Amino acid sequence: MTDRQTTLGERLQARGVSRRSFLRFCATTASLLALPPAMVPRIAAALEAQKRPSVIWLSFQECTGCSESLLRSSSPSIESMIFETISLDYHETLQAAAGHQAEAAREDAMKENWGKYVLVVDGSVPMGGGGFSTVAGQSNVDTLKHAAEGAAAIVCMGTCSAFGGIPFANPNPTGAVPVSAIVKDKPIVNVPGCPPIPAVMTSVLAHYLTFGALPELDHLGRPVVFYGQNIHDRCYRRPFYERGQFAESFDDEGAKKGWCLYKLGCKGPTTYNACAVLKWNEGTSFPIEAGHGCLGCSEPNFWDNGSFYAPLSSATDLSAGKLAAGAVVGVGAGIAAGAAIRAAQKKHRAAKPAPAKEEPKA
Ligand code: SF4
Ligand code: SF4
Ligand code: F3S
Repeated sequence: MTDRQTTLGERLQARGVSRRSFLRFCATTASLLALPPAMVPRIAAALEAQKRPSVIWLSFQECTGCSESLLRSSSPSIESMIFETISLDYHETLQAAAGHQAEAAREDAMKENWGKYVLVVDGSVPMGGGGFSTVAGQSNVDTLKHAAEGAAAIVCMGTCSAFGGIPFANPNPTGAVPVSAIVKDKPIVNVPGCPPIPAVMTSVLAHYLTFGALPELDHLGRPVVFYGQNIHDRCYRRPFYERGQFAESFDDEGAKKGWCLYKLGCKGPTTYNACAVLKWNEGTSFPIEAGHGCLGCSEPNFWDNGSFYAPLSSATDLSAGKLAAGAVVGVGAGIAAGAAIRAAQKKHRAAKPAPAKEEPKA
């Protein structure tokens, strides 16, 4: 039996993964995807029967952070094995082949799986300058168009491919655009974040392998289950926000006590991502837990949305003194502040549209 013909179930068994561990992974995946427990056997059956679906991974204007995030783990997890189990037929950073051999492998894999492979893209696509960023003599945009033609679905891994990201930031010297600005006729799922959370990517893939379709997406093409709520609503520092207790500098008493980082520029209230719940490094921490405000890295234009260290809205009066002086301290003040933030956010959206689609709703 060739490597490609073995099923995921057989490969996991060969790696010594017990049925109990595999089912636990399926249950976690179902819960991450907000699916009922009754779906666990279906996920398990579908994943076990998978015969190494072909994945072509293209990297354009990127920093390799997305690949690092996904593939670097301190110990081999079932999630990483899922990725070992897919047939990653082309990935410039990971593949052993180089030069003509690598390009031939990509062409062969595409031909063999035409219409069926999943195309993963990290990095934005440069449209200016007549050939910024080429691989094997072919411009990124031509490579993307060709690979997209034979893809069943496209996963935009990271903010660069989803929304343009850092290369798209002013003054955007390369004319960078997101994948969705070029490919219009294929199902695309955006998995933004700079970089994105590995479990999100694994779950999106598991969903596709189980149901043959992408999960429900929001108006920015992001899976609703992971990007349906903002960081602020699930942040463990939220009680301090509600009480009007804010760190004023990174080394004051408020910072030491773990108070809210809103005044230090935290973009949690306008950022939709699952960091506050899933966290990073196998659930260890996330930027806010490490003492730094959210930069809004999973949102369009995050690099150009004003200073990372300025509060979201100067019109929003969140001075701890004023809140504490009010008769109704805490929840009421927090709700009022939240309303002001959402109003400011709407105003900001009206002034600066997203590159490909509209901005998230407040
Ligand atoms: Fe790097 Fe961020 Fe772009 Fe990913 S999204 S390639 S981590 S700059
Ligand atoms: Fe957390 Fe930032 Fe919201 Fe404060 S403003 S509660 S630190 S997300
Ligand atoms: Fe990015 Fe904010 Fe999460 S900066 S990693 S979306 S906490």
